[in-house]
Amino acid sequence: MSSLIATTAVRGRFLDIQNTVAQAREIHDQVRYLEDGLLISENGQIRWFGHWEEGQHYLPDGLEVSHYPEQLIVPGFIDTHIHFPQTEMMGAYGEQLLEWLNTYTFPTEIQFQNPAYAKKIADFFVQELLKNGTTTALVFCTVHPQSVDALFEAATAQNMRLIAGKVLMDRYAPEALTDTAETAYTDSKALIEKWHGQGRNLYAITPRFAPTSTPEQLEKAGQLKAEYPDVYVHTHLSENHNEIAWVKDLFPEREGYLDVYHHYGLTGSKSVFAHCVHLEESEWDCLHQTDSAIAFCPSSNLFLGSGLFPLKKTWDKEVKVGLGTDIGAGTSFNQLQSLNEAYKVQQLQGEQLPAFEALYHATLGGAKALSLEDRLGNFNIGKEADFVVLELNATALQALRQSKAQSIEDTFFALTMLGDDRNIAATYIYGQARYVKA
Ligand code: GUN
Ligand code: ZN
Repeated sequence: MSSLIATTAVRGRFLDIQNTVAQAREIHDQVRYLEDGLLISENGQIRWFGHWEEGQHYLPDGLEVSHYPEQLIVPGFIDTHIHFPQTEMMGAYGEQLLEWLNTYTFPTEIQFQNPAYAKKIADFFVQELLKNGTTTALVFCTVHPQSVDALFEAATAQNMRLIAGKVLMDRYAPEALTDTAETAYTDSKALIEKWHGQGRNLYAITPRFAPTSTPEQLEKAGQLKAEYPDVYVHTHLSENHNEIAWVKDLFPEREGYLDVYHHYGLTGSKSVFAHCVHLEESEWDCLHQTDSAIAFCPSSNLFLGSGLFPLKKTWDKEVKVGLGTDIGAGTSFNQLQSLNEAYKVQQLQGEQLPAFEALYHATLGGAKALSLEDRLGNFNIGKEADFVVLELNATALQALRQSKAQSIEDTFFALTMLGDDRNIAATYIYGQARYVKA
């Protein structure tokens, strides 16, 4: 039976959110927790999911079942904003956004004109995602097309669903990091033709941010998006006060920062704007009206001192939001750690972040922010079989805390407060274990 080769079965405790929601208060009713569940995947997709007692009868003869009785299995984490070339510069000291870019980021990114270097870091980066239970990410490369090739090649080797693109940047950066309006267009177009929809790979048109693109380049980016409406747009928005003032100086004819992107046709249901810490009311309305999404990057916002993202506002304004690490401004690849920081960002604003809402943002909500909720984010039959096996008691301290957990909600909350890569027991991509902790 040849289909057996691509069939896997996993038994254990499963936790997910069954449906996307419009309001946070609706999440609780969508929580699905199976104490003893079974997931059968075939050719990368979930063919059966439910209670072990029932599902055991559907197991193909001779199929080995991977059993995780002590762990917790959740959908793979989705990172809606990350820069792979910045992996090596995490933890760069002392600066806020614009100085940080000039001092650390641009010199680092110049190295990616070398394809061998790009490959080395792309391979490392994909391993790091797997080690941290992240199964899909929306990724910035550098201005160099070879950096995109390196990343998609590394992702393809793991069968991982990644969205990525070449940076567009034709001013206010070192010469070795700039393209032109024309090459931004032609290089991106060639990369779209090469990679978008190839295997699980998807492409994102990636202007770095409004200050580093001329109006001519943004025009070209909009033209490309019009030609390929199915590809993503991925950029930064309203992260830092000096950045926002700079955009207003550079584009006085526009109503504000987001209006720059909107004017050039770069908003929409496949547009993801990282940060959005300091949006004006009209900008929230524009994001809602255009069905654009935000990537909330708490560890980065704290590290660069950018500000406190008003997560609650995404529910009030009905704007899609996912969770991002924003490596290398973020301080961990691990989305449990991002949720830890997200909780504190909420606390500093007098709000909470309930554990199941946290799970939603890291999984199904992230999938929705990427318009991939029909394929990713939970264990519904027909979805792609990307999931992560979480160790609950990776340290003595965690074991002590978990022994006091009051409920599965409390178990997951404690995991997000105390957990990190030590808690990732295994990461499954398209039904196959691609990482297993030693
Ligand atoms: N804004 C423009 N470029 C970047 C970047 O590389 N990182 C972050 N955090 N913000 C940016
Ligand atoms: Zn970023």
